[in-house]
Amino acid sequence: MRKILYMSSSTIAGDKADLVGILQQSRHNNALHDITGLLWSDGTHFLQVIEGPTAFVDATFGRITQDDRHYDLSLQHNIPIHERQFGAWTMAHRRADDPVDAYDARMRRLLSGASQRVRDPFLALMATGSLDG
Ligand SMILES: Cc1cc2nc3c(=O)[nH]c(=O)nc-3n(C[C@H](O)[C@H](O)[C@H](O)COP(=O)(O)O)c2cc1C
Repeated sequence: MRKILYMSSSTIAGDKADLVGILQQSRHNNALHDITGLLWSDGTHFLQVIEGPTAFVDATFGRITQDDRHYDLSLQHNIPIHERQFGAWTMAHRRADDPVDAYDARMRRLLSGASQRVRDPFLALMATGSLDG
């Protein structure tokens, strides 16, 4: 199995970003390909971890890199793994009017099983997000 973590910027910022479309495609495809992970977005940035069988993770990441709904994609890590850190595929998105505290609490719960290498970039990005308002 393999795990990929990357960060990117949303082409269309804010609540108009096509999060519903991304979520529907991802739920569908990831369930078929045994991919789990977490997609975080504050409407400006994406941070996503995908984990699962190497061939499917590579193929999924290949499609993701071609997607023009985001840009400036930077790979944080791409490593072989023996076990998953996320039992299911989840997307966490903070809308502009979501209370930051409740959202942060939810993210912390979702990340509680993740390694520090995965958790730290999420927490760092969440911290910038809350400064933005
Ligand atoms: C930020 C972001 C995250 C995405 N995450 C996934 C994902 O986890 N799984 C997936 O299959 N597609 C994901 N996509 C969508 C892919 O880029 C691509 O559009 C989709 O896989 C095509 O699927 P389809 O051929 O079934 O329509 C993501 C796109 C973006 C912009």
